[in-house]
Amino acid sequence: MKDEIAVLYPNETVSMAILKYCREKSVPLPEHINKHAELTEKELGDKSEMMVSRLQAQYLVWTARSFNAKKILEVGCFTGFSALAFAEALKDIDGAKIVTMDINEETGNIARKAFQEAGVDHIVSFILGPAETTLAGLVAEGPFDLVFLDANKDGYLTCFNTILELGLLRQGGILIADNVLKKGLIVNTTDQNPSLSDDYAMGKVPYIKEFNTAIANDPRVETFFLPVFDGLALVRLL
Ligand SMILES: C[S@@+](CC[C@H](N)C(=O)[O-])C[C@H]1O[C@@H](n2cnc3c(N)ncnc32)[C@H](O)[C@@H]1O
Repeated sequence: MKDEIAVLYPNETVSMAILKYCREKSVPLPEHINKHAELTEKELGDKSEMMVSRLQAQYLVWTARSFNAKKILEVGCFTGFSALAFAEALKDIDGAKIVTMDINEETGNIARKAFQEAGVDHIVSFILGPAETTLAGLVAEGPFDLVFLDANKDGYLTCFNTILELGLLRQGGILIADNVLKKGLIVNTTDQNPSLSDDYAMGKVPYIKEFNTAIANDPRVETFFLPVFDGLALVRLL
C-alpha cells in the first residue's frame, strides 16, 4: 500500500534538503526574478509570504513551456513574482501575452515597475480591480491557454465559473489553482494539525473545500490534486 503513505519526507531536515536539491536540479529562475523576490521580502516583510515559493516559480516556468502556453491569465498578481516567472517562460514566443490582475494598487505598482525593468512589459498587462469584474472585460483577449488562480480564496469558485462561462480558458487548456490543501486544514482541523491555530488559514477552509468539491465533480473539466507546495489543483478543460 505504498501509494497510500501521504508523508513525502520523514522530517523537516530531509524536506529542506530535498527542496534545495529540487531547486538546484530544476529549470533555473533568472537572477532578476530571484532579486525581485528578495526585494519583495525586504520591502513587505511577512506579507511577502503571499508570493509563490522559488521552487513553485520554477514549476510555473516549466509548466507554461510544457503546455506550450502562449496566452496566460493570472488572477492575483501581488508584486508580480509569479507573473515574472510566466514572462520568462513566454518571452521568446511571438504574440505571447500575460494578463494579470489585483485589487491592491500599491503592490500592483511594484509589479508594473518590475515588468518594465525586466523588459517584459510589452507582453505583461496588469489590470487594477477585483477579479470578479475584471474577468468580464477580458473576453476579447481570450481564450487563454493557462490560467493561474491565486487571489482571494472566497472568490475561487466564482472566478472559476466565470472563466469557463466566458470561454476565457481554451478547450484543452489548464487552470492551476493554488493553496487548495491549505496547510492540510482541508482534511484535518484537529490538534494533530499544527496550523489549527492559524486563524487566517482556517477562515479560508470552507471556501476552498467548496471549490475543491465543485471542480472535482464538474463534468466540464478533469482535475488532478497535486500535494506539493500548499496544494495545487490542475484543472483541464475538456
Ligand atoms: C497570494 S497573492 C498573489 C501572489 C502572486 N501570484 C505571486 O506569487 O507573486 C494574492 C493576491 O490577490 C489579491 N486579491 C485579493 N482579492 C482579490 C480580488 N477580488 N481580485 C483580484 N485580486 C485580489 C491580493 O491583493 C493579493 O495581492
